[in-house]
Amino acid sequence: MFPKLITVYLSLIFIGQALSASDKVICYYASWAVTRPGNGKFVPEDIDPSLCTHINYAFAGLNTDGTLQILDEENDVNQEGFKRVSGLKEQNPNLKVLLSVGGAAAGTDVFISITMDAQKQQALAQSAIEFFETYNFDGLDVDWEYPNSKEGFNTLLSSLRSAFQPGGYLLTVAVNSIPGEVGGYDIPTMSSTLDIINVMTYDFHGIFAGFTSENSPLYGGVNESDWMQENRNADAAIRYWIDGGADPQKVAIGIAFYGHSFILQNPSNHGLNAPTSAPADPGEYTDNLGSLGYNEICEFHPDGTVVFLDDMKVPYLYDGSFWIGYDNEESVALKVQYAKEKNLAGVFIWSIETDDMHEFCGQKNGLLKAINAEIKK
Ligand SMILES: *[C@@H]1O[C@H](CO)[C@@H](O)[C@H](O)[C@H]1NC(C)=O
Repeated sequence: MFPKLITVYLSLIFIGQALSASDKVICYYASWAVTRPGNGKFVPEDIDPSLCTHINYAFAGLNTDGTLQILDEENDVNQEGFKRVSGLKEQNPNLKVLLSVGGAAAGTDVFISITMDAQKQQALAQSAIEFFETYNFDGLDVDWEYPNSKEGFNTLLSSLRSAFQPGGYLLTVAVNSIPGEVGGYDIPTMSSTLDIINVMTYDFHGIFAGFTSENSPLYGGVNESDWMQENRNADAAIRYWIDGGADPQKVAIGIAFYGHSFILQNPSNHGLNAPTSAPADPGEYTDNLGSLGYNEICEFHPDGTVVFLDDMKVPYLYDGSFWIGYDNEESVALKVQYAKEKNLAGVFIWSIETDDMHEFCGQKNGLLKAINAEIKK
C-alpha cells in the first residue's frame, strides 16, 4: 500500500515538473547585424539553433493600412534573411521562429490607429498569416513600445489571437518592465490571450544619470532607496507581473547581452554610484551611445577589472576611465536560477548576435551556453 502511494506521489511530481519546466530560451536576433563591420558581423548561419527554443526575428514594421512592412528588403528578402533564420528549424525540429514587429524605434502612431480600426486589425492578422506561410514563421511577437491603453492593446491582441487560432500560430509580446510605468497592460487578459510575455528586465538605469549604475540588476541594491528597490530591478518587475495576474508559465525574464557604459569623472573612483562625466562612446559594432555589446566588452576591454555585486547579482567592469554595468556568464546563470525558482516560462535574450562569438572572454556563445547549462541542471 505504501509503495503504491509513493509511486503515485512520485509520478505526480514528475508530471508537475514536465508541465512547468522553466526551459524556454527565447533568442531575439537583431537582423541588421549582418552589416556590422569586422568581428561584429553576424549572419543567420552564425546562430546555433541548439541553444534556443525560440528565435524572434527583429524587426518588421507596420504600414498605415495595418499590414506588416518589410524594413530591409535587401537583407530580409533578397538575401533571404527571413528564410535563412526560419530554415534553422531543419537543424532543430523543436525550434519555433517568430517575426517580431515594432521595437523601440518603431513609435506608436500606427499601433494606436490599428487599435481603433477593425479593418486594420484584420489587415494586420491577414498579412501576418501570409508572412508565416511565405517565410515559414511560427508566429508573431508584438513589440509595441508602449501601449497607450489597456482596451486598445486587448483589442489588438484578441483580434490577432482569434485569427491565429486555426493555424496554431504563436502570439507573444515584449513589455515594459518598470512597474510604475506599466499603464497600457491588462495583465490577466494578456496572460490568457498570449503564449509568452517577455518582460524587458533591463535598461533600469539611464546613461545620463551622472553616476555609474547597472543595466539589469536582478535585485535591488542594499544602498538603494525603497522606491528604487521596488521599481528598478528584474525581481521587482517579474513580481509585479505575477502579482498582477500573469501565469508565471507565460512570463519570460529578459537577459541583456549588452551593458550601459560611462566615462568616470575620476578613474580612481570606480565603484557603483561613482560620478560620471558622460556616457561612453558607441561601440565599433553596435554603434549606440553609452552601450556596448558583450562581444565588444570582451574584445576591447580584456584587461578591465570585473567586480561582482552580491546584492544586485550582476557585474561591472572598469578600465581606466571606462565603466560598464552588464551581464556575464555568472549573472545570466543566476537569472536562469531565478526563472526556475519562480516557475517562469524561461528566459529571453536581447540579443544573441552580441554574444562572445569570437571567444575573447572565453568560449564561443559563452552567455547562451551558460544559460543552457543552468537550465539543464
Ligand atoms: C553601502 O554604502 C556604504 C556607505 O557608503 C558603503 O560602505 C558600502 O560599501 C555600500 N555597500 C554596497 C553593497 O554598495
